[in-house]
Amino acid sequence: MRLQDKVAIVTGGGSGIGTAYTRRFLAEGAKVMIADIGEEQGSRTAAELADDGEVAFVKTDIADPESAQAAVDATVERFGAVDILINNAAIYADYVGSDHSLEYLKQVFDVNLHGQWVMAKVVAPLMVKQHWGRIVNVASIAAYLHQLSAGSPDAENFELSNYAYMQSKWGVLGLTRHMAGQLGQFNVTVNCIAPGLTMTEATDKQVPTDFQPMFATMSAMRRNTEAEHMVGPAVFFASSDADMVNGQVLVVDGGNVMIS
Ligand SMILES: NC(=O)c1ccc[n+]([C@@H]2O[C@H](COP(=O)([O-])OP(=O)(O)OC[C@H]3O[C@@H](n4cnc5c(N)ncnc54)[C@H](O)[C@@H]3O)[C@@H](O)[C@H]2O)c1
Repeated sequence: MRLQDKVAIVTGGGSGIGTAYTRRFLAEGAKVMIADIGEEQGSRTAAELADDGEVAFVKTDIADPESAQAAVDATVERFGAVDILINNAAIYADYVGSDHSLEYLKQVFDVNLHGQWVMAKVVAPLMVKQHWGRIVNVASIAAYLHQLSAGSPDAENFELSNYAYMQSKWGVLGLTRHMAGQLGQFNVTVNCIAPGLTMTEATDKQVPTDFQPMFATMSAMRRNTEAEHMVGPAVFFASSDADMVNGQVLVVDGGNVMIS
């Protein structure tokens, strides 16, 4: 019960790793608001976890400031405060790697990067006032793997592509540092988890199954991560065990990307 009576918002909590965060946070005594754009999956997940603790769902588009504000208002109305924000939602399952247009780059940034800022902007004043808050942003090891960006060797017809997902997740690392620098003085910490390839339904949609073992071989532990592997680090960052841990990125991939 390391999060007893804390109130958490988990964006993207309706599926995959977000649901794993939600389940574990409930087990640790937190009250959880699932803020997800997917209405059907969000309400279904909240209903499925109802016996595990106090959990609710609010339909939210994190890229839309009004929707973000409404989600936070609904959380305060239902649970009385916001202590923890898990900035987990992203365009991942439906990411279109073949779309290199500037419009799509902006669309992905609006959700994967700016959406985290939009949510934090709404919760930060509440956390500052109560002189306690924990924000956990979610990046990806994709931010570190330049090999995934290998372009065409055709020098004659070369065209610079974008890798919107990777670029946005690298941005999350910078955003984490920026917010940590501002909020630390108010006893609000901001840290980041960078998951390795994690076995969720979204991954099965996004990464061909015959390609997934390659990531496992890149990890020192020779296997890919599961959603459950992300929840311990999230609880750590959100709990008093991490009171003086701020502005840090924790890569959780069994030892592929090793930063120090
Ligand atoms: N699964 C992996 O291999 C992996 C690896 C590295 C990082 N990640 C990151 O972990 C997080 C969760 O991944 P997952 O595998 O559970 O994927 P997922 O697609 O199951 O979860 C993403 C969730 O975000 C929600 N969402 C999307 N756009 C939204 C918006 N505008 N507003 C609110 N909610 C929105 C989706 O409905 C979904 O529930 C994502 O940030 C992803 O980028 C995943």
